Amino acid sequence: MTSVPELVPLISQEQIQKQVCKVADQINIDYCGHQLVLIGLLKGAFIFLADLARQITIPHQIDFMRAASYGRGTATSGKVSISQTPTIDLKHKDVLLVEDIVDTGITLACVKQYLQSLAPASLRICALIDKIERREVEMPVDYVCFNDAAGFLVGYGLDCNENYRSLPAIYILDQ
Ligand code: IMP
Ligand code: MG
Repeated sequence: MTSVPELVPLISQEQIQKQVCKVADQINIDYCGHQLVLIGLLKGAFIFLADLARQITIPHQIDFMRAASYGRGTATSGKVSISQTPTIDLKHKDVLLVEDIVDTGITLACVKQYLQSLAPASLRICALIDKIERREVEMPVDYVCFNDAAGFLVGYGLDCNENYRSLPAIYILDQ
């Protein structure tokens, strides 16, 4: 018999909103007077980006990219494919890449290399969750909401086989 996965609450809606506001405040300070472009990494970052962008009070543009290193389920394939690239011209712009989770760092290494090739004025990374202890390639993250989250997480944009993305809080999927 297959067991039903259990959702263990980890980060509440209130905790998420508090951290999102804190990170946005810092971005508002750091990018004041700059031509900021937020690039959301689909699909996982779509809710985080929507909340973050609405707390960013300086003028900014928004675009998206899509890359995946995960196949089905919870294990990484180690292979990254970029299937959607930004349409805004990023040359000489200050680009902030918005990601849901930085895990091994393999996805971002590939995405960063691609974005660097577009000659932005600067490129920084903002992540909802940084699983720093799982890193396999060096990948510094400039803005982080949470960095002490372990286990396989779902909710607030994060999925397992495309499920759970719309949950308003973050849960550990106990399989
Ligand atoms: P990395 O290439 O190993 O850093 O993988 C990063 C990507 O894996 C993220 O963009 C997520 O989409 C996905 N990922 C990593 N950990 C989790 C998790 O706990 N829940 C859902 N997706 C995850
Ligand atoms: Mg992702």
